[in-house]
Amino acid sequence: MSQHPVDQSQITDPATASQPEWWRDAVIYQVYPRSFADGNGDGMGDLEGIRSRLPYLKELGVDAVWLSPFYESPQADAGYDVADYRAVAPMFGDLLDADALIRDAHALGLRIIVDVVPNHVSDQHAWFRKAIQDGPGSPLRKRFHFHSGKGENGELPPNDWESIFGGPAWTRVEGGEWYLHLFASEQPDLNWEHPAVDEEFRSILRFWLDTGVDGFRVDVAHGLVKAAGLPDIGTGDQLTLLGNDTMPFFDQDGVHEIYRGWRKVLEEYGDDCVFVAEAWTPTAERTALYVRPDELHQAFNFHYLSAYWDAEELRDVIDSSLDAMRPVGAPTTWVLSNHDVTRHTTRFANPPGLGTQIGTAGDVELGLRRARAATLLMLALPGSAYLWQGEELGLPDVVSLPDGARQDPSFRRARGQDGFRDGCRVPIPWTVSGPSYGFGSGGSWLPQPADWGRLSVEAQSGRPESTLELYRMALAVRRQHSALGAGNCVQWLDAAAGVLAFRRTAEDGRRLVCTSNTTQEPARIPVHGQLLLASATDGIHVAENHVVLPGDSTLWWTD
Ligand code: GLC
Repeated sequence: MSQHPVDQSQITDPATASQPEWWRDAVIYQVYPRSFADGNGDGMGDLEGIRSRLPYLKELGVDAVWLSPFYESPQADAGYDVADYRAVAPMFGDLLDADALIRDAHALGLRIIVDVVPNHVSDQHAWFRKAIQDGPGSPLRKRFHFHSGKGENGELPPNDWESIFGGPAWTRVEGGEWYLHLFASEQPDLNWEHPAVDEEFRSILRFWLDTGVDGFRVDVAHGLVKAAGLPDIGTGDQLTLLGNDTMPFFDQDGVHEIYRGWRKVLEEYGDDCVFVAEAWTPTAERTALYVRPDELHQAFNFHYLSAYWDAEELRDVIDSSLDAMRPVGAPTTWVLSNHDVTRHTTRFANPPGLGTQIGTAGDVELGLRRARAATLLMLALPGSAYLWQGEELGLPDVVSLPDGARQDPSFRRARGQDGFRDGCRVPIPWTVSGPSYGFGSGGSWLPQPADWGRLSVEAQSGRPESTLELYRMALAVRRQHSALGAGNCVQWLDAAAGVLAFRRTAEDGRRLVCTSNTTQEPARIPVHGQLLLASATDGIHVAENHVVLPGDSTLWWTD
């Protein structure tokens, strides 16, 4: 048996590119412009670099690319502090580069989703600068949350909210008022009760839709509306970096009205464009509210991302996610990693219970083995899947970054919080050797570890047992096998403790079985038809009516 058997007879030609509602089962690849590819050799990734690597993404087999922010920004939070939403930061290129990137992507059949950051702007945004200049009571201040402080001389912040990056969520300015910033002090929160804010963002959406993008990822979609009166939290609890906590500044019902308005803007451009919400909410049911038919199209499934490699936990979150989305008719999404959390290879290399910000390497080999198995499990589920750049190379988090190299504001503002987001943002290795392993000719803004070349695209291409080839194969099968991605349910099959087995049946009757062993011990399972793909490269023994499923592995079967 070959190591990643693909039964060609099970594959049909789908012509997915022109499918209506393409997003329902799309695989969407997140590109972090700083760290993907550096076209001009300044050590920082850019749009030209991304453009030159589009053929790689096409070959990988994804449907769409989501670009983290590349707008004009002083980079206090790696571009999530936008100074001008209609301009490209010179370090990334210019509007012509953005245009060329979108055209090239479309020519390859790839869709482009861009980030929109509506919760806050940069403190260098024209509105905020003028608000500071014009002083208390000025019209521009009303577009933000400026308030007088408490205490005899207003020397205490207006309430007890803490920034998600650590420290107080308020900063006092000359003249005595305080302004709210849920993130860094360079990211003042907008006041979404003000009509000019809503109007401005509709205009920004139109600007990028006119440029040709296929959708938006909505940053902090759950944060725009704050509870009336900005009430104290009162617990003194420290927030996790990003988490599903219930807070007076997150997941307030008022946000939905905003998205109903945005949906109308999008629909002016036809029904092919999409919104995906970054909405951290307490339950899957609360997440589902963001994707009702007249709101956004998808929401990241952070409940899934937060689950460990554990059969029971995974089955619960899969069931609750599918159950929550079914009534609203939106596809469930699945995601294992992004630019805000420790890569799943490293999460699964460590023991459970450590959360999504981990600073230790753990058992690297075990982590990779589990990550490969987790990917095949994820890609077998109904709905849309998000990949974070470099996960197809099995990259671990870089846990050895010197403090001086770190740029994540949450690290700098940390007061007892872990801020390890730089570890997942280290530039991608493309080649075995050479300057910055092919990232660019001028070094890399975060230092790359010495073994990066071994994990590069060049080192893995054409090696059937490599993680890159596993992703390529899995995505090729997924594009062509109608039982993968589509639909909204799984049929669970009996399985031993620690093992997950489910069947997927397509509308055309084609079926696929996915079996995952989340324990470290081999498990005996029934044969489920013909073996299609395996995450493990060893230990699979097929007998007449049973198969030995190696520990920490996933197999796909057609039956
Ligand atoms: C989102 C982004 C994160 C950023 C934060 C503030 O959570 O994913 O990277 O720091 O918003 O914009």
